[in-house]
Amino acid sequence: MSPSPAREHPEARLGFRLNGELREVPRGPKRKLLEVLRVELGLTGTKFGCGEGECGACTVLVDGRPLEACQVFLEEVEGRTVTTVEGLSTGGKLNAVQRAFADLGAYQCGFCTPGMVVRATALLQLNPHPTSSQIREAMEGSICRCGGYRRILGAIEQAAGTGNAKGGTP
Ligand code: FES
Ligand code: FES
Repeated sequence: MSPSPAREHPEARLGFRLNGELREVPRGPKRKLLEVLRVELGLTGTKFGCGEGECGACTVLVDGRPLEACQVFLEEVEGRTVTTVEGLSTGGKLNAVQRAFADLGAYQCGFCTPGMVVRATALLQLNPHPTSSQIREAMEGSICRCGGYRRILGAIEQAAGTGNAKGGTP
């Protein structure tokens, strides 16, 4: 039996840094990053919602910038840094956004939560003390079907140290 093309040709694989580790996966025509993360690499924290770039459930960071993984082709992340929700904690310690979501119970079904947390983390890395309106604007790409925006925004304000930590700006 002849070896698989992936084994024959090193160029049949591509590498990127994922949550701090170098990973290599097979190239493939039109492979989407979301599918590779969830199915091939087992990182199911990143959710599949609409599959059309509209809901933000699949948000990951690519070189620190929030992107919808369902809209990113695998080739686009070659040589770049990808961070999923699994990569936000350090040594089992939640980051400030994760902690605030947990403290305030800023979730209902939780389906949107990983994408929300990733997007909010990107915001606070760029702007550690955003105003309420800057938070709202930055979070526009993420939809919560449970309608839990008040607590979600409150958690982000708490993480930023700019809110009353009671459930967000009405
Ligand atoms: Fe990617 Fe909805 S699943 S934006
Ligand atoms: Fe259910 Fe946001 S908590 S979709």
